Amino acid sequence: MFITFEGGEGSGKSTQSKILYQKLKSEGRKCLLTHEPGGTKIGEEISRILKATYDTPVSGETELLLFNASRAQIVEEVIRPALDKGTIVICDRYADSTLAYQGYGRGIPLRTVRNANNLGTKGLKPDITFFLDIDPRVCFKRKTNKLDRIELEDIRFHEKVRKGFQKISKQEPERFIVIDGTLDAEKISEIIWEHVQKKLNE
Ligand SMILES: Nc1ncnc2c1ncn2[C@@H]1O[C@H](COP(=O)(O)OP(=O)(O)O)[C@@H](O)[C@H]1O
Ligand SMILES: [Mg+2]
Repeated sequence: MFITFEGGEGSGKSTQSKILYQKLKSEGRKCLLTHEPGGTKIGEEISRILKATYDTPVSGETELLLFNASRAQIVEEVIRPALDKGTIVICDRYADSTLAYQGYGRGIPLRTVRNANNLGTKGLKPDITFFLDIDPRVCFKRKTNKLDRIELEDIRFHEKVRKGFQKISKQEPERFIVIDGTLDAEKISEIIWEHVQKKLNE
């Protein structure tokens, strides 16, 4: 089973993916927690390039290709082999983030983003995706550490990204579980746990 977490900056993805990982582990399940961009040695280098600030603007297409370069590596090196061994894989961000940020946020045609994502994912789709939906204004109040290049985009960009996630999740209601990100972390983790249990029993 392949589980992904999606949503804007500070929506609670890392918090919830860690809680879910711990719960599955404590049940004695084989489970792996990873994240995008990164999750491999090459991927972490690509991630550093993506997050750095430059004195010239970064092309949306450059971002699209770099995220998918990192993705192709993590799918081949980490995610596929783990799934093949029957391990439950949890990934903090995946291809839907690229559709939301580079497609809806940057304005690259969605068809182009989907094509690039197909190359990056090699067709590997999550079985279940949790979208933590929350107003980006609320999230930026939560953030205490230094913001990276993409996080530093203006609020209108982050609003477009949120709308993008909302549209994407409506297009695939059988895969997406949309959760109100303003709920407290414990409540959110209970909702997630119920859905994962249900999916595991299927
Ligand atoms: N449900 C929640 N309510 C309030 N604060 C939260 C909640 N979930 C996470 N946080 C806090 O918000 C910040 C961002 O959470 P994080 O899980 O790192 O988000 P993301 O990985 O989506 O960027 C952290 O300081 C975290 O402790
Ligand atoms: Mg995070």
